[in-house]
Amino acid sequence: MNITLSTTPAATTKTGTLVLGAFADGTFPGTTQAIDDASGGKLATIVKRGDLDAKTGSTLLIPDLPGVAAERVLLVALGKRAELDEKAYRTALAAAGKALASGVAESAAVTLAELDVPNRDAAWRLRTAARLLADAAYVFDAPRKEPLSKRGANAVTLLGIESRAEHALAVAQGLAVAEGMALTKDLGNHGGNVCNPAYMAHTASALGKEFGFEVEVLERADMEKLGMHSALSVGRASLSPCKFIVMKYSGGGSAKPIVLVGKGMTFDTGGVSLKPSANLDEMKYDMSGGGTVIGMFKTVARLKLPLNLIGLVMAVENMPGGNASRPGDVVRSMAGITIEILNTDAEGRLVLCDALTYAERFDPACTIDLATLTGACVIALGAHASGLYANDAALAAELLAAGQGSGDRAWQMPLWDDYQPQLKSNFADMSNLGGPAAGSITAALFLSHFAKKYKWAHLDIAGTASVSGDAKGATGRPVPLLAEFLLARAAG
Ligand code: BES
Ligand code: MN
Ligand code: ZN
Repeated sequence: MNITLSTTPAATTKTGTLVLGAFADGTFPGTTQAIDDASGGKLATIVKRGDLDAKTGSTLLIPDLPGVAAERVLLVALGKRAELDEKAYRTALAAAGKALASGVAESAAVTLAELDVPNRDAAWRLRTAARLLADAAYVFDAPRKEPLSKRGANAVTLLGIESRAEHALAVAQGLAVAEGMALTKDLGNHGGNVCNPAYMAHTASALGKEFGFEVEVLERADMEKLGMHSALSVGRASLSPCKFIVMKYSGGGSAKPIVLVGKGMTFDTGGVSLKPSANLDEMKYDMSGGGTVIGMFKTVARLKLPLNLIGLVMAVENMPGGNASRPGDVVRSMAGITIEILNTDAEGRLVLCDALTYAERFDPACTIDLATLTGACVIALGAHASGLYANDAALAAELLAAGQGSGDRAWQMPLWDDYQPQLKSNFADMSNLGGPAAGSITAALFLSHFAKKYKWAHLDIAGTASVSGDAKGATGRPVPLLAEFLLARAAG
């Protein structure tokens, strides 16, 4: 998507679709009022008649409005004037984006970015608008006999905004976040037969070539030498060998790097502790943490952010088989900590622990891991928030704020050692199973043992990385949260 800024008057702007906001009480923001005047009060009449549902984000398409150069007007309900907050702003922009993405118009002029949002500046509004408009236009290029016909507005002008450098930068940031999300979504939406560990490694390597950052792929033998027996135990029975992907983006001189660690389970059958069949297809999304890391690198490299970033993706497939791990097996992690595998379906922590140990060598400013780790987190928080755990209060606060700022929210959960007895093993230092109570917490607590040497946060994204049902698909989360976090860090 191409997004430009302009201060030409809305009425005379030649475009396919002119997007205007309307408040729930029938009053209009300034620009909409000007258009209503130009149309001889037609907009007000239509709104009074009740054609536009008052619910925030409802839309109404009006072709050939008199007095307006645009071919059609898209009215977007903004909710109550006094309640126009970040959430309403995002809802309105996302709704506009959705309508534009499915409409016939190839160009659009959007006036919503000039709305005032309490406590947020123009840069935030532009970044948010660009991201939401571009993200709404995402389509997975699914393999089909007849490719889908392309629709939607690809050329968008944000009206009422001076094209100053800081504004253009905010738009570029929003577009880059959407671009990273699109890559994360693509990786997630591919079936496990396409997006296997080698595919993830290849995607990362190609990205590194395109943007000029370093990517190293460690093979099974390399991992063996490092002592990553825990991670390797998960991938044993797959015909697609494990790949440990190490990405290095250097834009920050001698600053300590931020390390992102991603669970890249390209398919999670559960292994010998086989999962039931219902919705098992959705375990293709179990690589979303790794997909998020790769997507983030696209965003960061596109924006040439002045920071150092390390990405560690454990790309593994969890399959049953004659040489698969069995419940009761004990493995030694790279950290030396031995683990009794009581359930081969609790595999995420088994791969992440070795990646977290590997992270130590980078002397990180902080390490953040992303993982579709537990069904228990879905029960606790549903699809609205990722579960956040951290061994550092300031880092947790930063990530929570980034979640608020992006609308891609997280909610902090406890890492109290009171839960530790649930991980006790009679045959090893720890078991990989915490029992039915507090499953997301015990999984995080397991990981915390491998993250003692640096500031660490863990995002359990099992509920947020994909959606089920009619709109089934990857969401690209938590790319927006991490982008907000990294943009804030880059700004110092
Ligand atoms: N990948 C799953 C977690 C998951 C569940 C992600 C639902 C997305 C949606 C993970 O590997 C898993 O199977 N976790 C088990 C852990 C249990 C065996 C301790 C779970 O949550 O049931
Ligand atoms: Mn599992
Ligand atoms: Zn899993």
